Amino acid sequence: MGNPIIQFERWWQAALADSPLQQKNAVCVSTIDENGFPSGRFVDLKAVSDTGFVFCTYFDSAKGRHISQQPKTAMTIWWDHVGYQIRIVGVTHLISDAEADYFWQSRSRSAQLTTTAFSQSEPLNSEHELSTRLEESSAHYADRPVPRPKNWGGYRIKPISIEFLTFRESRLHLRELFEIKGDGWVKQLLQP
Ligand SMILES: Cc1cc2nc3c(=O)[nH]c(=O)nc-3n(C[C@H](O)[C@H](O)[C@H](O)COP(=O)(O)O)c2cc1C
Repeated sequence: MGNPIIQFERWWQAALADSPLQQKNAVCVSTIDENGFPSGRFVDLKAVSDTGFVFCTYFDSAKGRHISQQPKTAMTIWWDHVGYQIRIVGVTHLISDAEADYFWQSRSRSAQLTTTAFSQSEPLNSEHELSTRLEESSAHYADRPVPRPKNWGGYRIKPISIEFLTFRESRLHLRELFEIKGDGWVKQLLQP
């Protein structure tokens, strides 16, 4: 019936090739808040494998709090230049510390300093505080590596369904829905 992870990897590579996007790996992750409302925001997609879709963030951000209460999560992608939409639904788990360390090390020093300087999703007193906090963080770690903050790491969405939509100007979009049934994936086409 096909493997949607292999199809995803193929589409991701196609989207990355000659991509006109500045933020090439931005994908929308939707969580469910404490009142049951959906809450979406863009994050960078870090990795994909049979075990799921990985993104990195702060555990105590709004999204991190949502996931700890309700791990049901969605990821939505639109790559305009190739006409691909992908919708993923799944259950989210923390990645290991070793994996989080790997992704932390792959970040630039300036990204590490910025991450370290802030408590994501907490109120900010003024725009000026953006630069003062970053200066403090830079001074604190001058001449030494920036360690991964204890409250920063990654999540992996283990998919239960993945839908691929090939956009067509005719509106005869091809929709291919893969759902986990028993041990494997079952594919079903959907009307546009
Ligand atoms: C293109 C783009 C990429 C982003 N990548 C990330 C990311 O990888 N991790 C992250 O925590 N926030 C990322 N952000 C910021 C999030 O969209 C969001 O503002 C932040 O994570 C706080 O969300 P929350 O308050 O719902 O937890 C990105 C924003 C944009 C526009």
